[in-house]
Amino acid sequence: MERFPLSRPARLAVFASGQGTNLQSILDAFPAGHQLASVQLVMSNNPDAGALRRAERQGIRTHHFPFPSRKFDPHGDKCAAFEAEAEGLLQDGSIDLICLAGFMRLFSAEFNGRWSGRILNIHPSLLPRFPGLHPHKQALEAGVSESGCSVHFVDAGVDTGPVILQRRVLVLSADTVATLAARILQEEHQAYPEAIRRVLLAEAALEPNEVHS
Ligand code: GRF
Repeated sequence: MERFPLSRPARLAVFASGQGTNLQSILDAFPAGHQLASVQLVMSNNPDAGALRRAERQGIRTHHFPFPSRKFDPHGDKCAAFEAEAEGLLQDGSIDLICLAGFMRLFSAEFNGRWSGRILNIHPSLLPRFPGLHPHKQALEAGVSESGCSVHFVDAGVDTGPVILQRRVLVLSADTVATLAARILQEEHQAYPEAIRRVLLAEAALEPNEVHS
């Protein structure tokens, strides 16, 4: 694979399980014909994901796979079959960079290793604090005065890869999970396109376990 920066627009694939507002921020930042990048493929484990509808509206190729159950074994046969299918679509679309945007499933360490430096995730906390599920609840229960979001390279762990950038919000005494999540989501929409831009311009890179930014 060519190293970043490319001499042509990068081809992005986005994996999303939910409403897809982060996908939308990426679509808005890198519309079709943009010189740095455009989204070529959107994949989901959820047939009802708003993310799929947003992509369809813009004529972007979508794919839904019946992903193995919530508690699946990332080393099991079902996961291998799903990843082989995903890999085929990624190769077919000549994808340069994968963006996980609210994708509620894990890939195997082998998959992440193959895409090392070319697979990003966004997480609604200031990593390394509060990785995994329910980060807003974790933040509120810890009583922190600020939280935020992180865009990071994906490695073999859950929300453990090197951070590309973070954006912060104050945690208010009246905050609930819903109010905090909504405020952080606004920051996510700024953070993800900017992190993609930095990676594509090689202002942030994984070489092999380090970020230069
Ligand atoms: C975001 O908060 C993301 O960080 C989290 O799931 C949410 C997805 O939101 N992992 P959306 O589908 O992009 O609107």
